[in-house]
Amino acid sequence: MPLLEVQGLCVNYGHIEAVRDITFDVEEGSISTLIGANGAGKTTTLKTISGLRPVRAGKIVFDGRDITGLPPYERVKMGLSQSPEGRGIFPGMTVRENLEMGAYVRTDTKTAAYKADLDRVFELFPRLLERVSQVAGTMSGGEQQMLAMGRALMARPKLVLLDEPSMGLAPKLIAQIFSIIDEIKAQGTTVLLVEQNAAQALKRADSAHILETGSIVRSGTGAELAKDGSVKAAYLGGDL
Ligand SMILES: Nc1ncnc2c1ncn2[C@@H]1O[C@H](COP(=O)(O)OP(=O)(O)O)[C@@H](O)[C@H]1O
Ligand SMILES: [Mg+2]
Repeated sequence: MPLLEVQGLCVNYGHIEAVRDITFDVEEGSISTLIGANGAGKTTTLKTISGLRPVRAGKIVFDGRDITGLPPYERVKMGLSQSPEGRGIFPGMTVRENLEMGAYVRTDTKTAAYKADLDRVFELFPRLLERVSQVAGTMSGGEQQMLAMGRALMARPKLVLLDEPSMGLAPKLIAQIFSIIDEIKAQGTTVLLVEQNAAQALKRADSAHILETGSIVRSGTGAELAKDGSVKAAYLGGDL
């Protein structure tokens, strides 16, 4: 059974059909990716899976349960968390406070398990430990991205949704973010990754879907799509 099943999902903004009848699965333990141009509907899809946008039609099943009508915090409790596009950290709070916010649905914040998860985030992102008392809004773009990912992991997710984690970062930091994504998978967390950096996303995707104007036009393994002529031409600048 897949960890996440998206079935016939349609999402509108008023009369605009941002997502049109998309269907895909995310297998437990995998990295899945949605690739597409600006405006293709990637963020809308992730927000809808998180419960931040209502569904016009279709169904979302997570961990065997129909969550289509469930409020966002209930989904977080079930193990579904998101690192939003544009980072969305709390700029006036410190790094530590931001990480605590990521764990707000947990009831075990005084326990060793919580401490272990905090340590795990600091192991993945040593920079956050160095800056644990810094006000988040004063950090660099890359650091804020790390904080957004770390905050999502503090919910102890089974599935983490990452919306454009490499956006706006320098090449060295991009490489670092992608290797951290590999490490998140290695530690057993399933990843649904949205990226404009298609080459890097396809390289590590067990499963990939191309979104065009709200529809999935092609699916396959990351390796298959990276070899596909039309995918290369449209998303990989002709080579990989
Ligand atoms: N808040 C909004 N109100 C109206 N239209 C929106 C809103 N957010 C996104 N859209 C539209 O929905 C479509 C999909 O957007 P989005 O999901 O953000 O795409 P992507 O993340 O792939 O760039 C676009 O046409 C966009 O203009
Ligand atoms: Mg987006």
